[in-house]
Amino acid sequence: MFTSVAAVAAVFPVAWAASAFNFAPPSTSPTAASANYTGSSNGTLSNSPVVSGRAFDRFIQIWLENTDFNAAASTGAFMELAKQGITLDQYYALTHPSEPNYIATVGGDFFGLFGDEFIHIPSNVSTVVDLLEAKNISWASYQENMPTVGYFGYNYTSVDYLDAGADNYTFYVRKHNPTMIYDSVANVSSRVARHRNFNDFAADVNASALPQWMFVTPNIVNDAHDTTIDFAAQWLQFWLMPLLNDTRFNDNRTLILLTFDESETYTVNNRIFTLLLGGAVPSSLKGTTDSTYYTHYSALSTVQANWGLSSLGRGDTNKTMSNVYSLVANVTGYQNENVTGAAIPLTNLTGTIPGPLNVNAWFPFTAPNTSAVGAGNGTVFVAPGVNMNLTIASAPQPINLTQRGQSLPQVLPLNATSLPSSVVSNTSTSGASTMRVASTGVLAVAGAVFLLF
Ligand SMILES: *[C@@H]1O[C@H](CO)[C@@H](O)[C@H](O)[C@H]1NC(C)=O
Ligand SMILES: *[C@@H]1O[C@H](CO)[C@@H](O)[C@H](O)[C@H]1NC(C)=O
Ligand SMILES: *[C@@H]1O[C@H](CO)[C@@H](O)[C@H](O)[C@H]1NC(C)=O
Ligand SMILES: *[C@@H]1O[C@H](CO)[C@@H](O)[C@H](O)[C@H]1NC(C)=O
Ligand SMILES: *[C@@H]1O[C@H](CO)[C@@H](O)[C@H](O)[C@H]1NC(C)=O
Ligand SMILES: *[C@@H]1O[C@H](CO)[C@@H](O)[C@H](O)[C@H]1NC(C)=O
Ligand SMILES: *[C@@H]1O[C@H](CO)[C@@H](O)[C@H](O)[C@H]1NC(C)=O
Ligand SMILES: *[C@@H]1O[C@H](CO)[C@@H](O)[C@H](O)[C@H]1NC(C)=O
Ligand SMILES: *[C@@H]1O[C@H](CO)[C@@H](O)[C@H](O)[C@H]1NC(C)=O
Ligand SMILES: *[C@@H]1O[C@H](CO)[C@@H](O)[C@H](O)[C@H]1NC(C)=O
Ligand SMILES: *[C@@H]1O[C@H](CO)[C@@H](O)[C@H](O)[C@H]1NC(C)=O
Ligand SMILES: *[C@@H]1O[C@H](CO)[C@@H](O)[C@H](O)[C@H]1NC(C)=O
Repeated sequence: MFTSVAAVAAVFPVAWAASAFNFAPPSTSPTAASANYTGSSNGTLSNSPVVSGRAFDRFIQIWLENTDFNAAASTGAFMELAKQGITLDQYYALTHPSEPNYIATVGGDFFGLFGDEFIHIPSNVSTVVDLLEAKNISWASYQENMPTVGYFGYNYTSVDYLDAGADNYTFYVRKHNPTMIYDSVANVSSRVARHRNFNDFAADVNASALPQWMFVTPNIVNDAHDTTIDFAAQWLQFWLMPLLNDTRFNDNRTLILLTFDESETYTVNNRIFTLLLGGAVPSSLKGTTDSTYYTHYSALSTVQANWGLSSLGRGDTNKTMSNVYSLVANVTGYQNENVTGAAIPLTNLTGTIPGPLNVNAWFPFTAPNTSAVGAGNGTVFVAPGVNMNLTIASAPQPINLTQRGQSLPQVLPLNATSLPSSVVSNTSTSGASTMRVASTGVLAVAGAVFLLF
């Protein structure tokens, strides 16, 4: 997979074989449990009291897959939904392929990652979960075909409900479940328990127990990954449209982000069709277009502005890359940057961005930038055990581990289906394990710190 950048670029843009799939609903309604999902409902979520935000009290992100802007913009269901919300027509993904985009929207960086493999991000690298929990804001990740609450596996294969005669099908993939990829979440049992499937989602809606921040990942056919935009459009009609009328999901303080992880085409910049929906969109703005430049970091900066949260001191505080959705910026007084034309960064680059998850241009994980000021005006959140001496500015020159015959320290074998027992048993919230970095000597780092798992 890491043989060369060219090989990666050649492999990933190829669409999955145009499927013979026809959409079929996985359940009788979005609020009914289904035997098509392996896990039965595991009770309902228990949440702390609602914390009021400046522009909304609930943020629901729904991520679809691999679609160019125009393909979504010209599809009926998206056109219909656009009338009920704000079209963000200058919204960009950050890189290719999927996984780096997902990890970036919760952690503020993709750390140079350019593949979809089974990785762990060290336990003292923080995410939006740390920022939300610091203010007692409830959250969850709803993953459609995940088999059990807090499942650790790389993927899950279950009965193909689209075709009774077919072999079992891989509907759940961990690469689309971003919070689970961070050990700061996956090592903490109370956080693991907030990763739930759609049977649990149905139970939570019925109990009016949805949390305030939600990441929603439809399964790999419903999100268009293995199928087409028309298939995903039918899923939206089945799942999202009725829920928009259900006040247990969408009330007048709910903001819904419907977006894509990345564009399908790699050779043009990474613009993705994105809608803001929900009762928090004022009627006067319904059916309008907002052409402010946004990226996946905007989903972090917007919730920070809304709830006055701390920041992560990473891409979420890069002024160019993290404009706050205008309807929220207008309420909180945040000044967006005017990024247009040639000033729009090229974010269709893959494999060439150095970082702790790029085997060909590697440097260690670095501390957050504590002098950054995020959209929430709060301090920069720093987990215990971070070596503050190793910053992006003091990081060593990237080295090519591939040329040295070495692999990434954090990448576990692709066939790993569960965390090593040493990790599973560590459910402490202290984040006491050290960041897998050293402040001096790259070779010493390579020798001493690579194999902490
Ligand atoms: C499972 O999916 C099939 C195909 O859409 C559907 O006919 C069936 O009703 C579903 N089962 C349940 C329990 O919802
Ligand atoms: C229910 O949750 C518990 C604890 O999170 C977990 O051990 C169990 O596997 C879950 N059961 C199902 C059916 O998801
Ligand atoms: C297919 O998946 C179901 C769970 O959905 C499982 O019970 C069954 O054993 C699987 N069949 C095979 C052949 O793996
Ligand atoms: C939602 O409610 C509106 C009117 O309030 C109605 O026109 C629409 O058909 C409803 N949609 C669904 C999917 O129930
Ligand atoms: C929002 O919903 C609440 C609860 O249903 C209601 O009391 C309030 O009047 C609504 N506000 C607006 C502006 O519609
Ligand atoms: C990225 O997009 C730009 C602008 O469309 C294009 O010129 C460039 O070739 C693309 N880069 C790659 C690596 O495909
Ligand atoms: C912010 O993002 C821009 C565009 O990607 C990049 O050129 C710039 O270096 C970033 N700034 C910092 C401080 O990382
Ligand atoms: C934000 O405020 C500006 C300036 O008053 C206005 O032009 C724009 O329509 C507002 N946008 C939203 C989405 O509220
Ligand atoms: C943003 O910049 C463009 C290009 O310089 C300019 O045409 C436009 O008027 C600016 N918009 C705002 C709101 O300042
Ligand atoms: C951040 O500070 C600025 C300047 O004082 C203020 O206008 C803005 O409302 C503050 N934002 C938040 C989210 O507190
Ligand atoms: C960080 O730098 C300070 C001052 O140079 C030094 O005293 C300290 O030991 C360093 N901490 C680590 C964890 O390397
Ligand atoms: C699922 O995971 C196994 C390893 O656990 C891997 O061999 C297989 O390729 C994966 N399948 C998909 C579709 O991701």
